[in-house]
Amino acid sequence: MNRIIVIPLENAEYLRSELNKKELLDKERKIRIIDNYNCGKCMEIPVLDDITGYRTIEQADPKYYQRYRSLRDRLKNSIPDHELCYVPSGWQIIGEIIVISIPEEISSRGYLIAKTLLEMYPRCRCVVRDHGITGQFREPMREILIGSDTETLQKEHECLFKLDVTKIMYSKGNLSERKRMSKYGKDEIVVDMFAGIGYFSIPMAVHSTPRKIISIELNPLSHQYLCENIELNHVGEVIEPVNGDCACVTPKGIADRVIMGYVGTTHEYLAQGIDAIRKEGGMLHYHETTPEERVFVRPIERIRTAAAKLGREIEIKECHRIKKYSPGVWHVVVDVLVK
Ligand SMILES: C[S@@+](CC[C@H](N)C(=O)[O-])C[C@H]1O[C@@H](n2cnc3c(N)ncnc32)[C@H](O)[C@@H]1O
Repeated sequence: MNRIIVIPLENAEYLRSELNKKELLDKERKIRIIDNYNCGKCMEIPVLDDITGYRTIEQADPKYYQRYRSLRDRLKNSIPDHELCYVPSGWQIIGEIIVISIPEEISSRGYLIAKTLLEMYPRCRCVVRDHGITGQFREPMREILIGSDTETLQKEHECLFKLDVTKIMYSKGNLSERKRMSKYGKDEIVVDMFAGIGYFSIPMAVHSTPRKIISIELNPLSHQYLCENIELNHVGEVIEPVNGDCACVTPKGIADRVIMGYVGTTHEYLAQGIDAIRKEGGMLHYHETTPEERVFVRPIERIRTAAAKLGREIEIKECHRIKKYSPGVWHVVVDVLVK
């Protein structure tokens, strides 16, 4: 997504500097002056996110700064030709930290790759190598290539998330789902069963101000960051963090909305998720990692079976694919009204 705000030149500098302060400018794309928007000379300001109070549109023909030259291109004269094909073309930036997967074939080039990435992104201070995610707590396995302090502040959709990238996952691929959730919950009681550091709870609290969000997280470290993020985002009145196993501590019969933002074994907690919904009815957002050939059929079947056991009726409202999880497997979410 290459979003821009188009603004008359006379107001542009003020907005540009405000966005810069809030780190919402997309510094990889060039700012452009144009005069074809029926309002004289305008500035196209590239932004990283939707900005409250301004209309953002997709930019036609974005121009990038030179540092956007590919990593492979930059390494051409430093590593042998037969290794170049292994150089990654993508990585994740979380706060001031670059997270990159490096194939075994070029393991020995880790430091060089990290150094080159820091030249490309001067605002970053640390590079870590990713080896995947493991266990019930969905903990990342990561090694530091350059830098030392791996705790950082990720700014997204006008929310702040503090985390240590070597201990806590943060999936950029779930951004659109985090934004979607931020639109729900106004005046509701919400239960976020796998809250992590507040991936869904914080945006919902910031943008929709529910009456209450009960955010349940089992990993003590994620819970600790959740508590810090509640403070950082000034949503202590809305979010009640609970450090516990949602199999045991999920409240019953109180929720207008339940989020089950987990993968792998989410279905094992469906009874608790459905039970949390008040008898007058409410919405359940059920996540699952589903093989391609069973997309939406398996999660819907599982929800139906669990609801029937509890004597609850359901109505499937929406089904979304969030992202490709692994080869042949999709991370999906099903929105279901439980009555
Ligand atoms: C990492 S989040 C997933 C967040 C979101 N779907 C995303 O990818 O952005 C899932 C969280 O559920 C927590 N968790 C796993 N089992 C749990 C349980 N039984 N009760 C409460 N939390 C649990 C994990 O520790 C983890 O922090």
